[in-house]
Amino acid sequence: MSEEKHFKYVVLGGGVAGGYAAREFAKQGLNPGELAIISKEAVAPYERPALSKGYLFPQGAARLPGFHVCVGSGGERLLPEWYSEKGIELILNTEIVKADLTSKTLTSATGTAFTYDILIIATGSSVIKLSDFGVQGADFNYILYLREIDDADKLVAAIEAKKGGKAVVVGGGYIGLELSAALRINNFDVTMVYPEPWCMPRLFTADIAAFYEGYYANKGVKIVKGTVAVGFDSDKKGDVTAVKLKDGRVLDADIVVVGVGARPLTTLFKGQVAEEKGGIKTDGFFETNIPGVYAVGDVATFPMKLYSELRRVEHVDHARKSAEQAVKAIKASEKGESVEEYDYLPFFYSRAFDLSWQFYGDNVGDTVIFGENDPASPKPKFGSYWVKDGKVFGAFLEGGSPDENKVIAKVARVQPPVADVEELRKEGLQFACKI
Ligand code: FDA
Ligand code: NAD
Repeated sequence: MSEEKHFKYVVLGGGVAGGYAAREFAKQGLNPGELAIISKEAVAPYERPALSKGYLFPQGAARLPGFHVCVGSGGERLLPEWYSEKGIELILNTEIVKADLTSKTLTSATGTAFTYDILIIATGSSVIKLSDFGVQGADFNYILYLREIDDADKLVAAIEAKKGGKAVVVGGGYIGLELSAALRINNFDVTMVYPEPWCMPRLFTADIAAFYEGYYANKGVKIVKGTVAVGFDSDKKGDVTAVKLKDGRVLDADIVVVGVGARPLTTLFKGQVAEEKGGIKTDGFFETNIPGVYAVGDVATFPMKLYSELRRVEHVDHARKSAEQAVKAIKASEKGESVEEYDYLPFFYSRAFDLSWQFYGDNVGDTVIFGENDPASPKPKFGSYWVKDGKVFGAFLEGGSPDENKVIAKVARVQPPVADVEELRKEGLQFACKI
């Protein structure tokens, strides 16, 4: 007979949100055996951003247990022992293949049934693959993606196996920019390929992108814009040897890394829960339309109070905070109490080479760029504001100190009026410092 296990609370997904949910449950008070975290990964929750940064360093690379949650936000590191000390069941290497929200049952690939009173869905995203678009040869060896630690290990092995070779990075978003830098630091000859006129178009303006493209070029990264990969060549072993582009060019490659976006993992719940904007629709406490079922992190489409709009966010800060909010709301409702509605200020960041940027708010409206944005500068430091309806909506800063980053966060939250955009450009960071 197949096994059955019951928990008061089940968190499905042992990623960033899963780990921060566990910490919040422990903070709020938990009896041993009440909480289970189910994850298809083999390791306890960790700070996923490390995989595209420190994990790939040629020297002194980050490795577990060094970056288990919650170190990424300056908290205590939750080692596997922490979960057992708290009586939290960490059920690893376990993929849930069926969810039935009516009978409150999750079934694993090996047939174990997990029942729950309260469920938090924290399944995150999966990568979009080139094979999804039928790109010829997309399954050749050394065509790699990056989402989980297993992928990162494959990447590390490929870097070792193809030492100093040629790498083509497909995609000009977060993965594209961070991985091109990581491969370059590992001494690969790197070419980036993306369809848009500039990198990271979902956030960067042409001005901002020009700095990064110039900086990358100075580091030796070649950039091919306005085209996509339509096929691959391989050798007799099936190892990739070249990338064929739509514009007819062919790029030699020993490794290909693909970062063409992610898709929230909601399939288990299709037709059982309300969806919106590609994610699972929640209220400001991350509860779905099914009572007792919550969704957090990448999969949640939630009310962004600041902009009176439903949004989904695929970034780590929100994964952490949404998980904490859901657990606080669950625990408060058990006591007949309530918590404040989630009031999130969007925060995105990235680090590559010696660069480090932060962005807060909403990238809508007109933009002004300020500061030292010459890619050849020994110490570049520049920023940008987004101005809509005469108010600052978003702020970006490259090379800011922790205090300066706090200041731009404040300006995006306060949305101060702007009388004169030219004046704002001249004042630059000083404008934010006065708020
Ligand atoms: P997350 O993906 O962290 O966790 C989901 C977990 O659920 C995984 O462990 C998965 O295996 C598990 N799971 C899914 N389906 C399952 C099933 N059916 N059964 C069992 N388990 C299942 N953001 C940022 O702001 N700054 C940054 O620098 C970076 N850097 C970065 C690098 C890389 C390489 C990636 C892939 C992503 C980032 N991000 C980021 C994005 C950030 O990491 C992401 O938004 C959060 O990890 C989302 O947290 P979740 O907990 O929602 O999903
Ligand atoms: P992304 O959406 O940031 O970028 C995808 C890029 O691929 C875009 O430039 C897009 O136009 C391009 N593209 C689309 N189709 C293409 C094609 N056929 N050929 C070439 N390029 C194509 O997604 P990503 O970089 O893959 O990141 C995946 C996930 O990981 C996202 O959720 C992201 O937020 C997260 N992530 C975040 C960070 C960070 O916040 N610093 C770092 C790494 C990953």
